[in-house]
Amino acid sequence: MIYFLAAVAAIAGFLFGYDEGIIAVARPLLDKDFPMDPLVGGFMTAAVPLGALIAASIAGRITDRFGRRRALMAAAALFTLGSLMAASITAVWMLILARLILGLAIGLAAVTAPLYISETAPLRIRGALVSTYQLAITVGILVSYLTGLAIDAEADIPWNDDGMWRLMFALGALPGLLFFVGLVFLPESPRWLILKGFAAEARTSLQRLRGAASAVGGEFDEIVSTARAEVGKKSGYKALLEPKIRPAVIVGAGLFFLQQLSGINAVIYYAPEIFNRAGFDNTSTQILATVGIGTVNLLTTVLAMYLIDKVGRRPLLILGFVGTSATMLTIAVAVVNPALVPSWVIIVALMLYIASFAISIGPLPHVLMSEIFPLRARGPGMSMASISNWGFNFVVVFTFPLMLAGPGLAFTFTLFSVICLGGIIFTLTRVPETTGHSLEAIEDHLNSGKPFASLRREVHVRTAAEIRRK
Ligand code: BGC
Repeated sequence: MIYFLAAVAAIAGFLFGYDEGIIAVARPLLDKDFPMDPLVGGFMTAAVPLGALIAASIAGRITDRFGRRRALMAAAALFTLGSLMAASITAVWMLILARLILGLAIGLAAVTAPLYISETAPLRIRGALVSTYQLAITVGILVSYLTGLAIDAEADIPWNDDGMWRLMFALGALPGLLFFVGLVFLPESPRWLILKGFAAEARTSLQRLRGAASAVGGEFDEIVSTARAEVGKKSGYKALLEPKIRPAVIVGAGLFFLQQLSGINAVIYYAPEIFNRAGFDNTSTQILATVGIGTVNLLTTVLAMYLIDKVGRRPLLILGFVGTSATMLTIAVAVVNPALVPSWVIIVALMLYIASFAISIGPLPHVLMSEIFPLRARGPGMSMASISNWGFNFVVVFTFPLMLAGPGLAFTFTLFSVICLGGIIFTLTRVPETTGHSLEAIEDHLNSGKPFASLRREVHVRTAAEIRRK
């Protein structure tokens, strides 16, 4: 059941990636029917991150009030509606509206899906399961790139002129529908049910998730006792201001700041342009190399899922920041000294950059944000982290072309490299090692007032009670 749940929730990740990437490849076809000036075109593209930002800021409240499952159902309905609308537009403003709706769906799901998986997963594979969400994002990106490759390779085929873009948008409705139907068969998060006082339903839900009635006793009691300890304390957004919870807010928002300022979406959105600047002026080479990036991104995410619960969050984060920092610097040096550094070095460095990202800085902020907040502030806390994700995503994607035109590629990549170095310090001083701890044990550590980053890896699984005793 839990694998089915993770797979269904991950459809939201696929749509995240697909809707991020599809506009790049649909745009040339779209322009034939609806020519757009740069401002309108830019706004149409940015409507998705904008919608996501709006939804992320209210998602915590929605998911706490109506439940994880119902919030995801609403997102699924919005995905389907937005895709069908985008496919049947007769004016540009309708496309902007449709993409805004898609953005709302993405933002709502981006908070709720990892939360839902994390709250229902057995702790030994929690990291791997939450990472399926990131894996699905990378699949969505790759599928949209492949669509671009198909169109580029067959540029003469007649359907390219004939509203092919409508089909590309409409296809998004299928996973949307599948997502909705899948959710109908899934149980609500037992942790949310406890929080709302539905103890009997919570037990049934946990039994359905674990498959055996006998297996849930200890886990159920732990969830209940943590929820009881929270009664009477502040909840919702107000709780995020408490000094005790602040370290979690810093880690959640800080990791997404670092994820976005590592330059990932400069690469994801503008890969062909970067290859162009690096001296590869053939369009097909650029698109092929871009598909290569999408493939490395996906494959390394699979490796990350295998490693996350074995190696631990902190070592992987440090590995990722070292790798992204070194590769960004290498590219900057290569661009400045084309005579000294052969151009293939840039392609290799970019692939290694993506691999370093995908093994660490890609999945881990999503995993950690679903683990570090206490139950009563989990929805709003994850909202906060997602606002950081989408806000800085927007900033990087919007400013990158300006940075290229102004200070240039080498300067911008050096900046990304320095920020990644900062990521190493941030990890060492701020990020707790959550591997091997139950969500309740992590919460107990946060409440203890000890430095958050002093939580260390446990070889055997520690319960909240054990941590309290220490
Ligand atoms: C980030 C996205 C990014 C993607 C690339 C995600 O974790 O949040 O902004 O495009 O990774 O794989």
